[in-house]
Amino acid sequence: MNLVVHSNPENLEAEILVVGLSRHPENTKGWQEFSERFNGKLEEWTKELSFDMKSLITYPTLSGSIPRVLFVGLNDRKKLTEDDLRAAFGQAGKELMKKKIKNAAVYLDSFQNDGIDAENAAYLAAEGITLGAYRFDDYKTSSNEADNTIETLSIISEEEAEEVEASAFIGQVFGQSVNEARTLVNMPGNLLTATALADYAKELGDSYGFETDIMGKAELEELGMGAILAVNQGSVEEPRLIVLKYKATESFEKPLALVGKGITFDTGGYSLKPKDGIVGMKGDMGGAAAVLGAMKVIGELKPEKNVIAVIASTDNMVSGNAFKPDDVITSLSGKTIEILNTDAEGRLVLADSVTYAKQLGATHIVDVATLTGGVIVALGKDKTGALTNDEAFFETFMEAALETGEFVWRLPLTESDKKRIRKSDVADLNNSPGRDGHMIFGGGFVGEFAEETPWIHLDIAGTSDAGSAHDLGPKGGTGVMVRTLAMLVERMAEEQ
Ligand code: BES
Ligand code: ZN
Ligand code: ZN
Repeated sequence: MNLVVHSNPENLEAEILVVGLSRHPENTKGWQEFSERFNGKLEEWTKELSFDMKSLITYPTLSGSIPRVLFVGLNDRKKLTEDDLRAAFGQAGKELMKKKIKNAAVYLDSFQNDGIDAENAAYLAAEGITLGAYRFDDYKTSSNEADNTIETLSIISEEEAEEVEASAFIGQVFGQSVNEARTLVNMPGNLLTATALADYAKELGDSYGFETDIMGKAELEELGMGAILAVNQGSVEEPRLIVLKYKATESFEKPLALVGKGITFDTGGYSLKPKDGIVGMKGDMGGAAAVLGAMKVIGELKPEKNVIAVIASTDNMVSGNAFKPDDVITSLSGKTIEILNTDAEGRLVLADSVTYAKQLGATHIVDVATLTGGVIVALGKDKTGALTNDEAFFETFMEAALETGEFVWRLPLTESDKKRIRKSDVADLNNSPGRDGHMIFGGGFVGEFAEETPWIHLDIAGTSDAGSAHDLGPKGGTGVMVRTLAMLVERMAEEQ
């Protein structure tokens, strides 16, 4: 999507103009000139139009170079928040796709208020429209009638064009990166194998000049990554450990590690999932997708912060070779683990990934994973669950989450929880202490490997996949946490 800022809309060619419609639209800068395009009809029409948040209606213009206007309801513009505006632009993006618009313009002033300036609004317009316009190229053999690409988004604003355009560009980068993560989540396990995911990561790394290291089974054996290997044991597919390094400084001090769960399909293994619970488990690499999406933002925007991405990828299968309950395995850290449930596989691959991130010198770690059904029971499908061992780090993280509008809620991790994770007759840890509050056990298990390193765990089992269409996109992969992880890196870059 090309982004262009125009200060004078006079001769601007576009198929449709997107306009925010709030109560008292006449207070909008330039509204007088704008309304002239309707030969005096606009006042009459706006009386009938709905100002309801996110309502959409299209009207023809009667003069000027843009033939149609898409009014987007904003209710009381004074009270408009950034989250409202992102959602409104998401709806607009969907509508532009439905109408097969290739060339749209946005009347930016109509989306601003005292708290949301032109740069802000341009950022949210590009991000929201990019997210709302997302569609997954499915595998239907009949041609997809609904196909469309928005080629140009013209932003009409009298503010500093360069700054407005730069903000819009950042918004678009965030949106596109989320969309790529969504596609990874939506791809089925037979097509997105660990090898395919690693190939994608390698390509991403090469295109942004990251140092990439992709390891297969032999290397994992050599390193002693017993936990990842145990999960992969039943598979005919090779595992992959994907490492990307973004070097903001040559010396590569104090990198932040982003660690993602990359289970390309989770059958549960011998602790087999029921037939209803197994459908959808192609999305069990949502954490990996979030990390790769964030790395794309980082590659584009090049913040002053060193970052390592570590992703362990495999499927979790059943076979004569598969690991079993009662098995005892040795992780990369040297800690031994008693397997009580082979369906608690995510924490195992994360354990070795976190240890490896520490070996690479990470001073801060965020792991992100579709880890437990427990987080859905606790928080529902629209809130990401978090655990941490470091208040200050978590505070920075929450500021980033607040900025992106991605809802995160922290759960406690107490000494008695840790005791239950460490309870085993035969090993240092067990991988499934029980069902009561088990989101905490899942994340807490990963925390055993972070040890004293400042660490945040994000359980996106509920938020990674949407059961139905929402303001910012369709049913399916959401790309949740791409934006917040990238924003966290931006914030940490500013802090140091
Ligand atoms: N991949 C699942 C978690 C999951 C559940 C993701 C629903 C998305 C939607 C994970 O590997 C798992 O099976 N967790 C178990 C843990 C239990 C065995 C301790 C769970 O949550 O039931
Ligand atoms: Zn599982
Ligand atoms: Zn899983």
